[in-house]
Amino acid sequence: MLSNILLAATAATTASALSPLFLDTPPSYSQPYAIKRFAPAKAVAVGQQIYRFPVTGAASDGKFSLLSTSAPSSNDLGVLPHQHYLHFENFFCLEGRFQLWTSKNDSENGRLLTAGDYGAVPPNTTHTFQLLDPFTEMVGAIGPGGFEDLFFFLVNSNYTAATRTPYVPSNASSAAGSGSSSAIITSLQSYDVWAQLSYFPRRDFVNGSAPSTSGWHSSPNSLPQNDHTPYFVAKDYGPKYLHTSAFYQIVQPLVTPAQAGAKNFTQGTITISSLPSNTTLDSTILPDHTAFEVLSGELIVEMEGETLALVIGDVVFIPGGTAFKYYSSAAFTKFLYVAAGRDTLDQRLIAEAKGWGYPVFPTAWP
Ligand SMILES: *[C@@H]1O[C@H](CO)[C@@H](O)[C@H](O)[C@H]1NC(C)=O
Ligand SMILES: *[C@@H]1O[C@H](CO)[C@@H](O)[C@H](O)[C@H]1NC(C)=O
Ligand SMILES: *[C@@H]1O[C@H](CO)[C@@H](O)[C@H](O)[C@H]1NC(C)=O
Ligand SMILES: *[C@@H]1O[C@H](CO)[C@@H](O)[C@H](O)[C@H]1NC(C)=O
Ligand SMILES: *[C@@H]1O[C@H](CO)[C@@H](O)[C@H](O)[C@H]1NC(C)=O
Ligand SMILES: *[C@@H]1O[C@H](CO)[C@@H](O)[C@H](O)[C@H]1NC(C)=O
Ligand SMILES: *[C@@H]1O[C@H](CO)[C@@H](O)[C@H](O)[C@H]1NC(C)=O
Repeated sequence: MLSNILLAATAATTASALSPLFLDTPPSYSQPYAIKRFAPAKAVAVGQQIYRFPVTGAASDGKFSLLSTSAPSSNDLGVLPHQHYLHFENFFCLEGRFQLWTSKNDSENGRLLTAGDYGAVPPNTTHTFQLLDPFTEMVGAIGPGGFEDLFFFLVNSNYTAATRTPYVPSNASSAAGSGSSSAIITSLQSYDVWAQLSYFPRRDFVNGSAPSTSGWHSSPNSLPQNDHTPYFVAKDYGPKYLHTSAFYQIVQPLVTPAQAGAKNFTQGTITISSLPSNTTLDSTILPDHTAFEVLSGELIVEMEGETLALVIGDVVFIPGGTAFKYYSSAAFTKFLYVAAGRDTLDQRLIAEAKGWGYPVFPTAWP
C-alpha cells in the first residue's frame, strides 16, 4: 500500500510520472490501458456538448464503446428524438442532472437522472435527452462498439483545452449543434440513427405529474426479464448482491445477459471495501474485455507490472486474457463496469454472492 501512496503523490506533482499505461487517447487496437477523466480521448464539440471516447470500438475489438458527454445546462433537447436499430445505448449520470425520455409501443417514460442514476435504451426505442445543470456529465456505454463514428461525423469542431476543463465555460443556451438539426439527423441512417421527428417528449415527468414516474427514488427498481423493454434504475434502488472474500464487494447490475440479449455485454456498479491489513489477493483473468470507470473513492488496478491509482471518471481497459488485481485504497470505492461476453466479473461475483438489501457492506471483516 505504501508504494501506492507514493505513486499517487508523485503523480500529483508531475504528469510524466504516471504509469505508461495511462494514455491520452484510446489505442487503435485492443491492449491494456487507462485514461484519466477529461483526457483528450478524441474529444469533439457538438454544439456546447463535449464528447470524449475513453473506449472506442477499435480499442475493444468492436465489443463496446464508453463515452462521456460534458456540457452546461441547455434550454433544448441535446439531440432530436431518434432510434437505433442495432445499438443498445446506456445512459449513466456522473455529474449534474439530465432528463432522459424513452418511447416504445406507445409506452412513454421519462426520468430526471441525478448522479448515479441509469437509463437503458434497447434497440428500436425512441429516445432523447436534455442536460439540466450548469455542469452535467453523462457516461454512455454502447454495445456493440464503434458508435462513436456518428460523433466524428457530427463534429462541429475538435475540442482541446490545455487545462482539460470539461467544456468551454458558457451559460445555458439552445445551441445544441448538429444533433438538433432535422436536416442532419434525417441523414444519419448509415450511423444507425433513425430520426423520429414526430415524437414530442412530454414535459410533466420532472414534476411527477406523469403516472410512470411514481416511485422514482422512493421504491425499488427491477430489471425487465427481456432484451427490448426500456428501463430506469435510480442510484442504489436496483438489485444488490454481496460477495464476500477477504474483502466485501456489492454488485449492482444494470445490464445482465437477460437484458443485453444478443448484444453480449454486461454493465453495472461494484462497491468495494478496503482490504484487511494481512490480505493476499489472487489475480483475476477474464476471457473477454472489461472496462472500469471510477465513481467514488480510489480504485487500484495492478496489471502488466504496473500499479494504477484511479479516481472519479478515470477509466481502465483490461483486455480478455490479462491478469489483473483490483482493490480499494479508500474505505469505500465504487466503480462502473462494462464487460463483453458471458463469463464476466459481475456474473462470476453474483454466482458466489447472496442477495443483499443495502448499498453499504457489513461492519465486521469477513
Ligand atoms: C428494429 O427495427 C428495424 C426496422 O423496423 C427492424 O428491421 C429490426 O429487426 C428491429 N430490431 C429489433 C431488435 O427488433
Ligand atoms: C478533427 O480531427 C480529425 C483527426 O485529427 C480530423 O480528421 C478532422 O478533420 C478534424 N475535424 C475538424 C472539424 O476539425
Ligand atoms: C452567464 O451567467 C452568469 C450568471 O447568471 C452571468 O453573470 C454572466 O454574465 C453570463 N455570461 C454571459 C456571457 O451571458
Ligand atoms: C408539471 O409540468 C407540466 C409541464 O410543464 C405542467 O403542464 C403541469 O401543470 C405541471 N404539474 C404540476 C403539478 O406542477
Ligand atoms: C410491441 O408490440 C409488439 C406487437 O404487439 C410485441 O410483439 C412486442 O413485444 C412489443 N414490444 C414491447 C417492447 O413491448
Ligand atoms: C489477519 O489478521 C487477523 C488479526 O490479526 C487474524 O485474525 C487473521 O487470522 C489474519 N488472516 C490471515 C489470512 O492471516
Ligand atoms: C458472447 O461472447 C462470448 C465471449 O466472447 C463468445 O464466446 C460468444 O460467442 C458471444 N455470443 C454471441 C451471441 O455473440
